[in-house]
Amino acid sequence: MHDSLPRWFAHRGGGSLAPENTLAGIHLAASLGFRAVEFDVMLSRDGTPILIHDETLERTTNGVGQVCESTDAQLFSLNAGHGERIPRFSEAAALCRQYGLLANVEIKPASGHEIRTAEIVASLTAEYWHGADVPPLLSSFSLDALAVARDVAPQIRRGVLYESVPAGWLEDIRYLQAFSLHCDAVQLTDATLADCRQQGVPVLCYTVNVPEMAEMLFRRGVSALFTDRLDLFSPETTAYKSLQSDG
Ligand code: G3P
Ligand code: MG
Repeated sequence: MHDSLPRWFAHRGGGSLAPENTLAGIHLAASLGFRAVEFDVMLSRDGTPILIHDETLERTTNGVGQVCESTDAQLFSLNAGHGERIPRFSEAAALCRQYGLLANVEIKPASGHEIRTAEIVASLTAEYWHGADVPPLLSSFSLDALAVARDVAPQIRRGVLYESVPAGWLEDIRYLQAFSLHCDAVQLTDATLADCRQQGVPVLCYTVNVPEMAEMLFRRGVSALFTDRLDLFSPETTAYKSLQSDG
């Protein structure tokens, strides 16, 4: 557990109840009492940071092709689900600040665009959250991106993001002067958890949509979870809704 972290992050903005990585999702997360959201940020061809997960448009929009080869004009004319537009990073940041949500900004560079994406996203994160009561958390699977974030915006906390935690995770954390370790819940070992606890590194796990698994992870000492199932979990308790209503 870590005192400065909410227990739950709405994954990809609003989980599976709203189109992923949209402003509607962030509104929904806030309305359901979530205090933290995670979303993915990538650059358009024009260098504008936008919320989207995939390098290609097909899965989450009615567009086709590569995000990094699409202009702003093309991207902002698309339907990202239920009539939602792909949001600009600036819009998501403003909404998080309005609601006082902790934003986990995942730097999600298209392959080969790691450095430029991190430069832009990290510097804008520092600008958008300047003086904020609830400071954001930057994370990325790209260690190169996190190294840029460390240099561009050292004051913004960083989380190192892994699928499976490698043996050299502590060296990564030290090199990147990172605050937290984020990993795939099913790949987290007790040995890693014990080492993280000893080093004072909070562990955040994605993506947990099953109540029994959430209970187990909190019991094992995980600090926070990313979930798509905003309807299942009570944001500020470790319990899931059916347990809470029982008690
Ligand atoms: O940041 C946690 C999680 O979002 C990482 O996986 O693929 O959903 O971005 P992905
Ligand atoms: Mg993500």
